[in-house]
Amino acid sequence: MIYERLLLPFFRRESRRTMSFDEGEPGMPVPPPGGHAFLYVHIPFCTVLCPFCSFHRVEFREHKAVRYFAALRREIEAYRDAGFRFTGVYVGGGTPTVMPGELAKTLRLIRDSFPVKEISVETNPSDLTPEVLSQLADAGVDRLSVGVQSFDDGLLREMERYEKYGSSAEILARLEAAAGRFRTLNVDMIFNLPHQTPEVLDADLDRVKDCGANQVSFYPLMTSATVRRKMTARMGGLDRKRVRDYYEQILGRLRPDFKASSAWCFSRGGLGIDEYIVDAGDYVGVGSGAFSYVNGTMYATTFSLNSYAERISRGLPAITRSRGMSLRDQLRYDLLVRLFGLSLEDDWLERRYGGNFRLRLAPEMLGLSLVGAVRRREGGWDLTERGMYLWVLMMSAFFESVNVFREDMRSHIREELEANEEVLVPVASLRRPDRA
Ligand SMILES: C[S@@+](CC[C@H](N)C(=O)[O-])C[C@H]1O[C@@H](n2cnc3c(N)ncnc32)[C@H](O)[C@@H]1O
Ligand code: SF4
Repeated sequence: MIYERLLLPFFRRESRRTMSFDEGEPGMPVPPPGGHAFLYVHIPFCTVLCPFCSFHRVEFREHKAVRYFAALRREIEAYRDAGFRFTGVYVGGGTPTVMPGELAKTLRLIRDSFPVKEISVETNPSDLTPEVLSQLADAGVDRLSVGVQSFDDGLLREMERYEKYGSSAEILARLEAAAGRFRTLNVDMIFNLPHQTPEVLDADLDRVKDCGANQVSFYPLMTSATVRRKMTARMGGLDRKRVRDYYEQILGRLRPDFKASSAWCFSRGGLGIDEYIVDAGDYVGVGSGAFSYVNGTMYATTFSLNSYAERISRGLPAITRSRGMSLRDQLRYDLLVRLFGLSLEDDWLERRYGGNFRLRLAPEMLGLSLVGAVRRREGGWDLTERGMYLWVLMMSAFFESVNVFREDMRSHIREELEANEEVLVPVASLRRPDRA
């Protein structure tokens, strides 16, 4: 489509610009008025590293994880003491449930320190044991998001998830045990995997509808140069031409039971807690390799786990990079994020930017209206179905820029990452002591 060809290269360049940070010691962000913000907590440990994943993650080492969780709690306390009043929290990874006792302790601190209304936690199917589920429920988790990716055993093997995270039958049994225990049970799926045919995707969609989850996030496969090489060698190459057909297949098959709550998240009956970024204006990311966006500045914490622990122990902020965004860039960023959640409300923009936001955003809204991506209504704009597809492409482009930045940061700590992986611990011995 013409707008894809015109808009996407421009948007990719803009995203790269947003994700280019200045070096230095920017310090901690100052709380926004009232201190209200969203909290993202990053837990970078996984027992097995999937070849398609470009998040900041390292192989689980117990002593490193214990040190990490302790530092994390100190960092959270520093934000509390600085006046932040977090209203919601999302714990992502990596695998946040890699040490459930440590996670529960961290969630307790967060609940005792802030007026949080919602807690979301990501996990893997192998962690859905009765003990861990009880620990998460007791810790007040409202939304549990389980990384499934596909219910096809062949694809699970290609993704190197079958052995450690479970076969399709095992995943389904575990999801059944978790169903109904949390307000929202989300499954993360990926579409456009190299050997995923339309028939395999259809079978995945059938299972999604029957597995007991009341929400599904269907991500298009997103890559970056280094990951693409590794992924292609293990799983086959990426074919972007199929994205549109597969996305339409997903929209068609999930209806009418599931309704879109963002461009790639669908909730049964339209209710549910979505991914953190949709509701957030300002957010703070704690932990190694986390991003924050406060008062129009983007921040990133150090990707080195050693440096993270050391900085926190010396009372220094974990943030080592920042980028102040112009008003125009802030508006565009909010436009991207809010419309990803399907609508953009005038009063939200007015609260954030004052009365003349409409004039400032006029060129973008005119362009988006002309290509049929948004529709004006009383009090705001809605994303159309065509717009949803365009947003899938734009968000993928944005996250691919984030991946490029992550890769760059991780390339500076290659020695540390390699040393971490050298201490080879047999998977069977990766018992979690706090689970016994
Ligand atoms: C970063 S993981 C963290 C939670 C957990 N470890 C897991 O595997 O689900 C969260 C989700 O990101 C998605 N994801 C990871 N790598 C991706 C990629 N290259 N493209 C699209 N989605 C990806 C997967 O659906 C995954 O479930
Ligand atoms: S997809 Fe999840 S389990 Fe796999 S490496 Fe990424 S964060 Fe870890």
